[in-house]
Amino acid sequence: MTVLAGKHVVVVGGASGMGEAIARKALEAGARVTIAGSSQARLAAAAKRLGTGAATLVLDLADAGSIAAAGRAIPALDHLLITAQSRAAVQTIRPLAELDFDLLRQAFEVKLFGALRLVRELAGALARDGSITFFSGGASRRIIPGHVGLAAVNAAIEAAARQLARELAPVRVNVISPGLVRTGAYDAMPEAQREAMFAARARALPVGRVGEPEDIALAALHLMTNGYVSGAVQDVDGGGLLG
Ligand SMILES: NC(=O)c1ccc[n+]([C@@H]2O[C@H](COP(=O)([O-])OP(=O)(O)OC[C@H]3O[C@@H](n4cnc5c(N)ncnc54)[C@H](OP(=O)(O)O)[C@@H]3O)[C@@H](O)[C@H]2O)c1
Repeated sequence: MTVLAGKHVVVVGGASGMGEAIARKALEAGARVTIAGSSQARLAAAAKRLGTGAATLVLDLADAGSIAAAGRAIPALDHLLITAQSRAAVQTIRPLAELDFDLLRQAFEVKLFGALRLVRELAGALARDGSITFFSGGASRRIIPGHVGLAAVNAAIEAAARQLARELAPVRVNVISPGLVRTGAYDAMPEAQREAMFAARARALPVGRVGEPEDIALAALHLMTNGYVSGAVQDVDGGGLLG
């Protein structure tokens, strides 16, 4: 399959999880791929797993100077996907009474402000038939205990993306809203607690399982290649919004 042949795909967050799976899918589809993230060591390890064709770029979405440098380092691209979330994001999963606002501010800093700043830097470099894909999460529309903070972050990026789909047209702008997906984002949880969470969610979902990064990569490929989708929030959640 070479549906992305000749295209430059930039994945911010490509050193792990969904971003790495998207980078792999884009390479399989013939693209030239740049993975970006805040750690050169993690990027290098991911590039090794991905094999030839994946370039790396150190980019800290919490740092305006780093974002400006990324703008200079990427003179042209076709598709931008931003899966990055702050490492502390999962720790904000708390009821309001226990919410750490400094951690929540970091989550906004990376996923909303950093992402928007990066889009501003790269907008002029994006191909007119290109696309931007942001990532949110089901808490923006589904009531999930302890998600008051992340719900706000995710709703904010969905709202901004819809505005940008008009403002940056004809570049297409979409959002993938993943359900629970088995990635390293949950590595800090004790294993027994993490597996119990995955098992409980799998039982509750219509599809009977939690997501894998590959599920998200397939949706990302669709949003990169289908020129008639813009301003959409694509749920890839095993039917999680059905209740
Ligand atoms: N996994 C789930 O169940 C789930 C559910 C709903 C929504 N989501 C959303 O889906 C997206 C992808 O999730 P995931 O599970 O694939 O996440 P992940 O494995 O934790 O990956 C996040 C990536 O972001 C990068 N990153 C962290 N801080 C950064 C910074 N300041 N600047 C640039 N990059 C940074 C990390 O690399 P470095 O630390 O090396 O920079 C990492 O590669 C996220 O937006 C997440 O909120 C995930």
